[in-house]
Amino acid sequence: MGTRSKPLPWWLFLSAMLLFSYKTQGADTLSAGQSLSRGQTLLSQGGIFELGFFSPGKSDNRFYIGIWYKNFVSRITVWVANRNIPISNRYPWELKIAKDGNLVILSDSKIIWSTDLPSNSSNTSSSLEAVLLDSGNFVLRDGAAVIWQSFDHPTDTWLPGAKLGLNKLAKQAQQLTSWRNSENPSSGMFSVGTDPNGSTQFLIQWNGSKTYWSSGLWNGQIFGLVPEMRLNNIYNFSYVSNENENYFTYSVYNISILSRFILDLSGQFMQLTWKDGEWGWILFLVKPRQRCDVYALCGAFGHCNIDQNLPMCECLQGFEPRSLEETSLSDWSGGCVRGTTLQCRNNTSDNGDQDGFIQMHSMSLPENPQSLPIGSAKECKLACLNKCSCTAYAYNGSGCSIWDGDLLNLRKFSDGDSGEQNFYLRLAASEIKGL
Ligand SMILES: *[C@@H]1O[C@H](CO)[C@@H](O)[C@H](O)[C@H]1NC(C)=O
Ligand SMILES: *[C@@H]1O[C@H](CO)[C@@H](O)[C@H](O)[C@H]1NC(C)=O
Ligand SMILES: *[C@@H]1O[C@H](CO)[C@@H](O)[C@H](O)[C@H]1NC(C)=O
Ligand SMILES: *[C@@H]1O[C@H](CO)[C@@H](O)[C@H](O)[C@H]1NC(C)=O
Ligand SMILES: *[C@@H]1O[C@H](CO)[C@@H](O)[C@H](O)[C@H]1NC(C)=O
Ligand SMILES: *[C@@H]1O[C@H](CO)[C@@H](O)[C@H](O)[C@H]1NC(C)=O
Ligand SMILES: *[C@@H]1O[C@H](CO)[C@@H](O)[C@H](O)[C@H]1NC(C)=O
Ligand SMILES: *[C@@H]1O[C@H](CO)[C@@H](O)[C@H](O)[C@H]1NC(C)=O
Ligand SMILES: *[C@@H]1O[C@H](CO)[C@@H](O)[C@H](O)[C@H]1NC(C)=O
Repeated sequence: MGTRSKPLPWWLFLSAMLLFSYKTQGADTLSAGQSLSRGQTLLSQGGIFELGFFSPGKSDNRFYIGIWYKNFVSRITVWVANRNIPISNRYPWELKIAKDGNLVILSDSKIIWSTDLPSNSSNTSSSLEAVLLDSGNFVLRDGAAVIWQSFDHPTDTWLPGAKLGLNKLAKQAQQLTSWRNSENPSSGMFSVGTDPNGSTQFLIQWNGSKTYWSSGLWNGQIFGLVPEMRLNNIYNFSYVSNENENYFTYSVYNISILSRFILDLSGQFMQLTWKDGEWGWILFLVKPRQRCDVYALCGAFGHCNIDQNLPMCECLQGFEPRSLEETSLSDWSGGCVRGTTLQCRNNTSDNGDQDGFIQMHSMSLPENPQSLPIGSAKECKLACLNKCSCTAYAYNGSGCSIWDGDLLNLRKFSDGDSGEQNFYLRLAASEIKGL
């Protein structure tokens, strides 16, 4: 008695860890019947990509299966299987080919991610295998037949050889969706893909709806609004259209040059290349070029600074970030919230000071104004004040605009640049007194 609850000696942990890392023997294939678990990885044949479990950032309870470049000190993740369903560290987990032929992630014996292919009793072939290729593609195949591939389900990265477009048979679009923040791969606000209406161009959208950049139509060599593509002799872009699918793909002429497109946290579509002997990734293309052209980058009541020397986003006067933790990880989608509740929202306010307005300078007008048939600045202000949901107004000498609810897509110009027009932001009286 007594020995049972004694902690295990440290060297036992150490040798267990060595054993685990020794087990990452660099195989590129997971065969039917095998499984990949903690500490184990697959390595593509030429040692370019690695696949395994990882945890981005500081969290030690959110794990993902992903693919990254093998030979970089800091991890550059190019694909995440279970981006929206992290694996908890509390239970054992594994990646394997299930009996029905699907590739699955099991945690606590439950399926938390699956390739979700239709299956029936004929799918029990023992020749099924999942292979990590040097292109960064993870392929489930039966002999020569590709049954599923990660290239058809991209995360935020587009690698040479992969397609971005529309599979007409499966009615499935391949698009890139940004990470939520630098430590969380779940789907963020921005996505890029080909025009769902079928024209040969890329569109970048906010929240799956608002288009804020388009590439212009493909003319066979370049996109209409991306003339820089003419200067390139590194990669070969092509468009393929047939009865089954429409897509763009690209290859690099010199395979020793690494290239990747990403949809960054900033909502910008970037192409980066890396050549042997060069220090770091070179930014080849970035669209839209100005970060403030990204729609609603700074969330509700936040504004984007056009001046690159200033922080990307800040809150409007009288507001503070909804989540300091998220904004510190470059995720401003939560925007900003009022420091002080408006009087019209707070029935218990006994001093009853009316809300007021401050003038916003050098700022673009917010999205979605409503026009009112009002002929003076004073009446325009009153119209806003008398409507509790009104958060701002502007009067331009001939017309009155008011805004209801969240103010979105604000851009702050450099000081001295007056912007389009001033508008007035509604704040609680106490916020204004302090100015
Ligand atoms: C099972 O087989 C069918 C028909 O061959 C195929 O369409 C399907 O993708 C397969 N499913 C899996 C999980 O391999
Ligand atoms: C099972 O797969 C075979 C071959 O693909 C197919 O002919 C059959 O209809 C499938 N059965 C079911 C129940 O899905
Ligand atoms: C697609 O076409 C419809 C109808 O013509 C149009 O309303 C919509 O804005 C188009 N979508 C895009 C993303 O261009
Ligand atoms: C994003 O779109 C969904 C519907 O697709 C909507 O419910 C949600 O409110 C939108 N988010 C924002 C921040 O507008
Ligand atoms: C570019 O790629 C296309 C499609 O793969 C191919 O047909 C064409 O020959 C390539 N062009 C060059 C210059 O390699
Ligand atoms: C490919 O690029 C490497 C440097 O990254 C260079 O050493 C090599 O000569 C290039 N090969 C060709 C065929 O241009
Ligand atoms: C304020 O009072 C009005 C009328 O009594 C009521 O309808 C409203 O819900 C109240 N608002 C809040 C935020 O308590
Ligand atoms: C409502 O107003 C009172 C008095 O000004 C203040 O103490 C209270 O914090 C306010 N409530 C909210 C939710 O802002
Ligand atoms: C002034 O504002 C009104 C209402 O929003 C708008 O219709 C009009 O085009 C604006 N005029 C000018 C010169 O900006």
